[in-house]
Amino acid sequence: MESTYDLSALDYHTARALLEWQVELGATEALLDAPFNRYEAPKEAPKAKKSAAQPAQPMPVQPVPEVDTAAEAEAVAQRAQSLDELEAALAAFEHCDLKRGARNLVFADGNPAARVMIIGEAPGRDEDREGKPFVGRAGQLLDRMLAAIDLDRAAPVSEDAVYITNVLPWRPPQNRDPKPEEIAMLRPFLARHVELAAPDVIILMGNIACDAVLGRRGITRLRGNWQEAFGKPVLPMLHPADLLRKPAAKREAWADLLSLKAKLGTLS
Ligand code: URA
Repeated sequence: MESTYDLSALDYHTARALLEWQVELGATEALLDAPFNRYEAPKEAPKAKKSAAQPAQPMPVQPVPEVDTAAEAEAVAQRAQSLDELEAALAAFEHCDLKRGARNLVFADGNPAARVMIIGEAPGRDEDREGKPFVGRAGQLLDRMLAAIDLDRAAPVSEDAVYITNVLPWRPPQNRDPKPEEIAMLRPFLARHVELAAPDVIILMGNIACDAVLGRRGITRLRGNWQEAFGKPVLPMLHPADLLRKPAAKREAWADLLSLKAKLGTLS
């Protein structure tokens, strides 16, 4: 019977689940899609005996050229002339292994014309599923925080809107912290993202965003203090996921939101 499955059409997660299921059933070897009759197969020519006088020569190992992935990311990102082109460039970027384990590229959400750009850490499970940043519990809290100062990611008017992205566009496995080399590799895309969106101010949500943009961690000391990065005023804030764990810290977050509102007033 002919197989009706087109295995090449399966997505990564389904293919992996099928493979795990077969291993659970006891499969130990990868065979062919179609049956193969070994009785009808042409006989292999007998292997020549190795002569003691001619020891087998090892194949020369070809050196694999080292790719400077950050330099390549920089070149690719700089070529993008619009946010759509940048998203397409990221989608085609093959040097980050996170891409292979993720369901979706999580590029951005909100209004790209917004005065405020928020940079988070990386997609979690919900964001990976939906392909949008900050849609899980932390994202819902973020939306409520923004609403408290009359900002809304869906607002059509740039004064009332926010634009949201992350340091990493692909979910790290088991939500582990991004590795320094992943941050370094993808930073050129983030820098170009800021350049193309051209917000008036940037909010850095949590330590990873501070690390990627300011090169420093220590959010409890950094938060609430305006700095400059990418040629813009930048405000580090506690990550909404931290606020879910430590609700008492919402007082500081409220102070930072008021500081953001005041800053927008001074810049308009
Ligand atoms: N946390 C983040 O930093 N980003 C998201 O998109 C979701 C949770």
